[in-house]
Amino acid sequence: MTSDVILDGELVPAEEATVSVFDVGYQRGFGCFEAMRSYGGVAFRADQHLARLASSAAALGLALPATETLAGWIRDRAETGGDAVVRVFVSATDFESDPRIVVFAEDIPEVPPVLRLLPLGAPWHPASRDTELAGAKTMSYAPNLAATRHAVADGFHDALLLDADGFVLEGPTYSVGWVSDGSMRTPALGQGILGSITREATLEVAAGASVEVQEDRFKLDDVLSADEVFVMSTVREVRPVIAVGDTSFDTGPVTEQLATGFRRLVVAETT
Ligand SMILES: Cc1ncc(COP(=O)(O)O)c(C=O)c1O
Repeated sequence: MTSDVILDGELVPAEEATVSVFDVGYQRGFGCFEAMRSYGGVAFRADQHLARLASSAAALGLALPATETLAGWIRDRAETGGDAVVRVFVSATDFESDPRIVVFAEDIPEVPPVLRLLPLGAPWHPASRDTELAGAKTMSYAPNLAATRHAVADGFHDALLLDADGFVLEGPTYSVGWVSDGSMRTPALGQGILGSITREATLEVAAGASVEVQEDRFKLDDVLSADEVFVMSTVREVRPVIAVGDTSFDTGPVTEQLATGFRRLVVAETT
């Protein structure tokens, strides 16, 4: 179910919330967005999502309303949604007018409890280019979704994206980590991957649990020889991966420790 929608500050019934077919966001994917989890009516790390939205909008040259205004709309939809995903879309309209801002809450999508990932080259990824849009959460997600569809068509749940030189990046809609000899490894943000808020929270959990972390550039072989693999995202939280291509993995203790620690962090910050 989708909540009523805050459309440019006005509360509109979901079935009446529309965006023009002439909107440049609709026509060209020129815009940016955020997705955050609300737990019991409180959005987790809304400030960080707002900061990321601000930097995505700045990368596109789109002006946002005041942060406190946006935060109020998010608070309002989170309270209505309860346990939900709160989504914010900023689309470019016609470049002459202010961007159109849409905020609503919807049911948490069902996600598999464990994942099987297909490694795929992603020469389109901003990490493979020197672009000012690296790390921006723009609405142009067609390549990401095409990678997911490719993986699903091949019998996997989703994709594991590799840059043009074969370095591991992230998933189409999640970050990745793995465990080798008790240490957590994850691609460095400097590679141009999204600054995932779940990844950041998981790194805090790892630090608190004295799990050593290595953030670096890693080839696929490093993942394939790991003891455990997992994904991190707002919707999936911390979730085990049981296969990467033909290589299988057991769900392991460090992933469990990080997943439990993440849930504890959420409870501490949202209650
Ligand atoms: C490409 C990409 N990487 C990583 C993530 C995970 O980010 P977060 O933890 O902030 O949800 C997402 C989330 O949508 C994403 O689209």
